[in-house]
Formats: sequence, C-alpha cells, structure tokens
Amino acid sequence: MNLLHLIQAKFRTALTGLVPDPEPYVAMIKAAQDAKHGDYQANCAMALAKALGKKPREIAEDLVNRLQLCDLLEKPEIAGPGFINLRLQSSWLAKTVQSIANDDRLGVEKAQAVKTYVIDYSSPNVAKPLHVGHLRSTIIGDALTRLLRFLGHTVVTDNHLGDWGTQFGILLYGYKNLRNADAYKKDPVRELTRIYLEVRRLIGVEDEDEAVNPIAEACRAETAKLHKGDPENVAIWQDFMPPCLEEIHAIYRKLGVPPFDHEHGESFYNPLLPGVVDSLLEKKVAEPGDGGAIIIRFSENNVALVRKRDGAFTYTTSDLATIQYRLKHFKPQAMLYVVDFRQSQHFANLFEAARRWGVSNVELTHISFGSVLGPDKRPIKTREGGAVELGSLIDEAIQQGRQVVDANSPELPDAERAEVAEAIGIGAVKYADLCQNRTSDYIFSFDKMMAMEGNTGTYMQYAYVRNRGIFRKAAIDPLTLRKNPPAVALDTPYERALALQLLKLEESLLSAVADYQPSAVTAYLWDLAKTYSGFFQNCPVIKAESDAVKQSRLLLCDLTARVLQQCLELLGIKTVERM
Ligand code: ARG
Repeated sequence: MNLLHLIQAKFRTALTGLVPDPEPYVAMIKAAQDAKHGDYQANCAMALAKALGKKPREIAEDLVNRLQLCDLLEKPEIAGPGFINLRLQSSWLAKTVQSIANDDRLGVEKAQAVKTYVIDYSSPNVAKPLHVGHLRSTIIGDALTRLLRFLGHTVVTDNHLGDWGTQFGILLYGYKNLRNADAYKKDPVRELTRIYLEVRRLIGVEDEDEAVNPIAEACRAETAKLHKGDPENVAIWQDFMPPCLEEIHAIYRKLGVPPFDHEHGESFYNPLLPGVVDSLLEKKVAEPGDGGAIIIRFSENNVALVRKRDGAFTYTTSDLATIQYRLKHFKPQAMLYVVDFRQSQHFANLFEAARRWGVSNVELTHISFGSVLGPDKRPIKTREGGAVELGSLIDEAIQQGRQVVDANSPELPDAERAEVAEAIGIGAVKYADLCQNRTSDYIFSFDKMMAMEGNTGTYMQYAYVRNRGIFRKAAIDPLTLRKNPPAVALDTPYERALALQLLKLEESLLSAVADYQPSAVTAYLWDLAKTYSGFFQNCPVIKAESDAVKQSRLLLCDLTARVLQQCLELLGIKTVERM
C-alpha cells in the first residue's frame, strides 16, 4: 500500500496525451509539509506551464479536470500560482486501514523488481578488539539488510574480514619475539592486542609501510612469508584465527546482529590475486610503475598500487578480486560497502578501476558514514586516550538500560528486567546511530539516547509498551480484533492523521532503501509517535462514546503498536511488553 504511488498513477494517466513523458512531472508529487495544504501536493503545473507555454493555473485546472478521482481523492484545491493540494477521502482511508489490520505485512507490498544485493559490512580487521568505529558499519549494514529483505529483495551479507593485511606481519613478528605465552593461552585476543601495540610503538611511525627501520623491515618480511605460504607463518596465523573470530561473533550476538551469509576475509582471495593483476595488465587497466610495482593511474597524483615493489598485493587488489568473485557467485545487481568516510577515495578508485576492467550492469555504492564523537566533539576515546572497545561500550549500555528499567518497573522479575535492560541499552545505542543522517558525525551520549522523551529508541519502546498496556488493562486480545477487523471511523482530525500516518509505512521504507538511509525510518517513527500521542490525548479509547468508536480506536492503537514494532525490528531493535 503506497499512497504516493496511487496518487502518482492517477497523475500519470491524466498527464498522458498532455506531454510526451509524464514521469518528471509525476515525480513532482510529494507529501504535503503542512496538513493545512492537504495530504499530498502536486507542484508540476509550473513546470508544465513552461513546457506547454500556458498559464500555470490554467494547466492546474486542466489537470484537475482530467484526474479520475474515484473514491481515493477529494476534489483537489488549486492554491497560489498553481499548486494542486490533494486530500485523500477519509472514507477511503478508513476502509484501507481496516483492510490492513489482518495483514502481517501491515500493507507493505513486496518489490516488483526484485534485486540481489551483496552488502559488505562490519568487516573489521581481525586480531584487534572491535572498537566503536565498527559500531556504525555493523548496525547500518544490518538495518539495510533487514529493510531490503523485508521489501522482498535478496541480500547476501558478507563480512569482509581484514584477516590478511600488514597487521599480520606485525603480529607474527610480535608473536615470535615478544609473546607472553601464559597470557596468550589465557586470552589470546588481548595478548595479540598488546603485542600489536608494542610492535607499533617500536616501529614508531604512523604508516608501517613507509617505516625504514629493522623492525618494520622484519614485519614486512613476515607478511611476505605469510602471503607466500610459509608453513610456520601460516600455522601461527591459523592459530590466531579461531579465538579472534569467536571474539567478534560474541559481539554480534550481544548486539543482536544475525550471522553473516559469508565471512570471506581478505585471505580468501589471496589465491586469486596474481590472476587479477595479470588481467589488469592485459586489459591495460594497470601499468608498470617504479621499481617493478604495478599501478592503476586515475590522474596525475592519484594512483593505486595493485602490486608493490616487493611483490606484495594490496587492499585494492584484494577488493578487485572480491568484486570479481561476488559477480561470479552471487550475480548481484548491486554491491554495497558500508564503510566509514575515510575510505571514500579508496572506493572511488576501486569502482573506477572495476569499470575500466569491464565490470558493468551492477551498481557499486560506498555507503559512507561519519564518526562517533565524544563529549569534546572529537572522535570518541577512553579516558586513557585509547579506542573505545565495542564490547565494553555494549556492557555499559546494558547497565544504563538496567537503570531505566529499575527506576520504572522495579516490580518486574529479575530475569525479565535483565532482558529489558538489554533491549533498552542496545536499542538506544542503535537508534541513536540510525536516526542520524549517516554521513554526519554524532556525539555519543547515554543520557540523551536513553531519554524517555523525544526521538530515542527508549521512547519508541516505551510508546509500544504503553500501547500494549491498554489491551492488557482492558483484557482485550488484539488477535481477535485483527481476525475480525471492526469498521474504522475517522471522525476527528486526530484519528484521521493517525490512519494516514499508518498508511505511509511503505513510503518510508522505500525512501530508506532508495538513499540507503535508515534515518528515513526513524523520522517516520518519530512522526508516528507524535501523531499517536495527539490521538491518545484527544480520543478516549476504552471510555469512547460508543462501542463502535471504541473498537475503531482499538484497531488504530493495535496497528500503531505493530507498526512501531515492525519498524524497530527492521532497525534491529527489540521491543518488550513491559519496561
Ligand atoms: N577491514 C577494513 C577496515 O577495517 C574494512 C573493509 C571494508 N570492505 C571492503 N571490501 N574493503 O578498514
């Protein structure tokens, strides 16, 4: 059920014969910003007037006369120079809302043109604890996956683990020379982190690739040995992997992020890399650079290495192999990379290289996002100045969630409170992230994200709980209501506004996937919550003036709860019955 599409279809018919291509004008129909101007607005008369050499108002009148309003629209009103204000018929809204009450999909249709997407997200570098930087990719990627799947698309999720890069040379060197065997046995990931930081300190410069000192040389030699299949290094590497992966998976479980379809790390593509470089050379995408290196030149000062002087392959080579592999095995129409903005140049180059290499008919999109900031508006750090580990951040969020439920509902049994604390804590973190325009930075604040008022996950969960409370208190089973939906009456503006908002669900989901912006869903939720609150304050439900009105309002309440729950689920956020 897509109100905008229904209205657009009417305009498409009306415009046919008037202009050769109605589509650009059809696209000018939008939801009205202000309810005073109706529900939707068509602003195409001005543009049409230009194209047809007539007066905008005349065109608007002509268009309105050509519209087959049926029972969908009231007679449109023409305002100002030629704005066409559109109002849906309340009786149509009432009937339609009633008709979705018994629909598990709440009126959302599946896409007609089903696509296959590969989404590359989370993709941490293995052998270092996940830190706050991995939060955004993981939850934005998960939300987009859920949204696209709900709309009927096929999504292949792939965690492109950094399990092969230069950090392994550092780790191998450290493992051989600086390892504390007991500590490694007890907590391998922590010991590896310590080793990693220690070797980095010894190397002394930011970019270990550039460093000229014996330790940096030794680390590079270890990486090269690993990549060439040296048995000792491969064995140590294989020993690193399971505990590192388990640590990462434990975080996904805590966050409620389902397992990935694939976790082909960079190492997976290693055998393909020589072939990739040969093919790049053969197709003249790549060329020899200084000292035996192989490069792809994008412009005078923008060059990507695909093979270093020492023969080592790069992140770019491995990403090109990945594209080739995904095309062959998943045959996607789109490949999305949820990776932070600092890699914009890498992806711009990568996509350009892929195109030159012959990759066509597939969308390649870098879904970039900004940083998580601390209260000082600088990228968030621990008190000691280190990266904030994701594991401890999640634990802290759950603790904060615990405070909310303890203050609100101390009477709940312990086990339930633990579950609620988790839902609140993790839900708040996810919502606070997803409600941002993803390209912006945001300041991380537990107090703000767990506020019971305003556009927060906690508030949305609470709106759901209060709504369910109505049914519990009145001992009404919502399932009965759904099976036999009562007639809906939209006699007050509050009820009408709520029905309209409920029917805009599909529109909001489509706009979220069109721009890969989960914030379209949170914006929708926020509007829904406000509309519901207006309804709830002005329209008594249990004490309605008649049973018919009561049943109608109960149905609106139930649908609101279900839409809230559905949207939160699509964002990866749990709802609870009490909190
Ligand atoms: N491992 C990389 C990092 O942590 C991100 C990988 C993103 N995916 C990709 N195909 N390049 O920076």
